[in-house]
Amino acid sequence: MTVKVAILGFGTVGEGVYRTIQSHERELEALLGKKVEVAAVLIQNKQKERNIAKEVLITTDFNELINLSQLDIVVDAIVGKDPAFNYLKQAIERGCHIITANKEMFAHHGKELLALAGEHQVSVGFEATVAGGIPIIQTLRQLLKVNRVGQIQGIVNGTSNFILTEMREKKQSFADALKLAQERGFAEADPTNDVEGFDAFYKLMVLSRVAFGNEPDWKDVERVGITSITSELIEAADQFGFRFKHVVSIQKEGDKLIGSVRPVLIRKSHPFYHVEGVENALNVYSDIVGRITLQGPGAGMFPTASAVIEDLVYVSQSNHDKKLEAYSVTEAIPSSNGSFNDFWLISGLSKTELSPSIPLVEQLSDQTFIVETTKEEILRKAKEYSSLSYYPILDGTQTFQNKKECITVSI
Ligand code: HSE
Repeated sequence: MTVKVAILGFGTVGEGVYRTIQSHERELEALLGKKVEVAAVLIQNKQKERNIAKEVLITTDFNELINLSQLDIVVDAIVGKDPAFNYLKQAIERGCHIITANKEMFAHHGKELLALAGEHQVSVGFEATVAGGIPIIQTLRQLLKVNRVGQIQGIVNGTSNFILTEMREKKQSFADALKLAQERGFAEADPTNDVEGFDAFYKLMVLSRVAFGNEPDWKDVERVGITSITSELIEAADQFGFRFKHVVSIQKEGDKLIGSVRPVLIRKSHPFYHVEGVENALNVYSDIVGRITLQGPGAGMFPTASAVIEDLVYVSQSNHDKKLEAYSVTEAIPSSNGSFNDFWLISGLSKTELSPSIPLVEQLSDQTFIVETTKEEILRKAKEYSSLSYYPILDGTQTFQNKKECITVSI
């Protein structure tokens, strides 16, 4: 008996999965009691040289792959919503478990795929959609079932974090740092997705569904990338002990989910301060345990393959007698302690334009200041001065408030 796997796509992720199935065949067999074999790989370009065993079907035709006489698991390692969604629906309908690393597709269609998988008694693994090798999805799905999550913050785009680190540590230009991230296989096929925050946005939506059973209205989520962060700003912030990080955040305020995707400044006291290079990190604030921080490699061939391989075991061992819990069914805690709201670094207006409405804490340069004020005031100023850029400053002292008020969120 063998478990037959098909891999859709043979780029960085697909190849990493293929090689890891081979390098870890003994571990997989010991865990599953069966050999795991790659039966087919879906590719785009037949001419390209690939190091794939000759007994594996290599095809550009999905129909040929899905009609194999035995197929148990389909791994989606392609980019974009289409045709991945369509392929995975067909795989589920055929009775295959599916595993995906495709965040854009899963942010758009995860709910439908999980529902379809429930109908067909198969499982969906999507660990690799968020934060590369960090097991955040299974931590939320399996290990924090009773805890009520109040807020999640994360550095979830390895490319952006890599660029910001290179710019600060090695004084690289934005363009050179991005090029390096591309060469190392961290960046998306279209790196706009990384540097403008789209990739992080999709990951945030997947996290939100898992942690809160729901997601905010996409159009209400602020999405800002890292392209406005100059070397001068990085240096000014560094002198005062702050580091720029691109951070996603999701929390309940009242009964609304509030999400944001943007560059922020991190103080030394915050666990994200030392998250450098392609590393990702997540802070999960929940009511019993408090804050948990998970940190690890956020992109690249083997970190992503690690998430897929662990999912391979998860989907193979899932208990299909009961309806799969698609997303969170635990209560979520509304938290009113928006950690972003007190201190800000702002840039792009003069001291006279700043005062008197915004109290100044520190002047970093002619047009760069640390201020203490509310988000509303910052937004009001930003409306008045289009040149203004603003970055909240996060510290590590955040805890839960509002523990008493709990609102049920269910799927
Ligand atoms: N381009 C993504 C990143 C790959 O840099 O995080 C991993 O999802």
